[in-house]
Amino acid sequence: MQTAKATAHSNIALVKYWGKRPGHDLNLPAVGSLSMTLDELRTVTRIAPAGQDRFELDGERIEGEPAAKVFRHLDRIWRAGGSAGNRPPALVDSTNHLPTAAGLASSASGFCALTLAAATAYGWSPEGRVLSQMARRGSGSAARSLWGGYVRLHRGDRDDGEDCYAEPLFSAQHWDLRLLVVHTTRGAKAVGSTGGMERCRQTSPYYGPWVDTSESDLAAATDALASQNLAQLGEVVEHSCFKMHASMLATRPPLMYWNGTTLEVIREVWAARADGLEGYVTSDAGPHVKVLCRPQTAAALGARLAAVPGVHEVQSVAPGPDATVVVEGETSQR
Ligand code: PMV
Repeated sequence: MQTAKATAHSNIALVKYWGKRPGHDLNLPAVGSLSMTLDELRTVTRIAPAGQDRFELDGERIEGEPAAKVFRHLDRIWRAGGSAGNRPPALVDSTNHLPTAAGLASSASGFCALTLAAATAYGWSPEGRVLSQMARRGSGSAARSLWGGYVRLHRGDRDDGEDCYAEPLFSAQHWDLRLLVVHTTRGAKAVGSTGGMERCRQTSPYYGPWVDTSESDLAAATDALASQNLAQLGEVVEHSCFKMHASMLATRPPLMYWNGTTLEVIREVWAARADGLEGYVTSDAGPHVKVLCRPQTAAALGARLAAVPGVHEVQSVAPGPDATVVVEGETSQR
């Protein structure tokens, strides 16, 4: 085992993933998804041989289930890499360069960086699609963080998950958009995505239609990205987001991830659009709002959203790069 350090950037889904296929433990999504990788917002994870397993996040030792999940993921990667015997104990040291506010998903960049660092440390270097499948085992959204720019996670149909993998669609240079990350709280989210997805699958009458209409959204978003048509892309982005939240709201008991400020920000984005400042809303399993716009619009639209009462901070983020890994002074790009 070597010492390896990986950097993976977070991503935001433009066409959402919500729901897992039941009946196996491969973490297979019920729908495909399409994301933009985010510059600046990233996780750096270093893995090194140690006397015993230890997980540190932002300088603090993490124990219990969150740490166990990390070590189970290392076991998986050790076995997948074909190594015999017991996995050597490791120190996993992660730093999140994510917004100061809590409640913004770090699982995408976190599990992607962990996967890339561990595979490299164990001398396993499969092709990208296989690595993305391994990252997906840790967290669905993590599969998309291996690449920069605009990335598609294919749902696939097979029970063994072989056709469920992520691949880059367009590089960051293809289209220079901005995502305004509008922070509406500093607290952590109430219901984690895994529990929320399962409750939604079991009880929401809108879950079936949500799953059934996802592929056509993916096709429309891919076309809009290819032709750089922001109005067309924005329409699909908002539709996918609100359709996901509609099925969340129809869950028993309801899943409501938004707060009052979330709604005020959404209304302000629409009002600004009517005034000629073009931006489109998306939001995940939390109360923050993300707004897709052109770089030329970002400052004016960001200032308008920062003025909404209850907004803590607005960050403007560009499309980010591929995940990278360094081992003993040598750098390799995925
Ligand atoms: O894979 P997770 O647990 O990070 O789930 C991600 C779910 C959403 O953020 C709501 C949507 C998405 O595609 O990222």
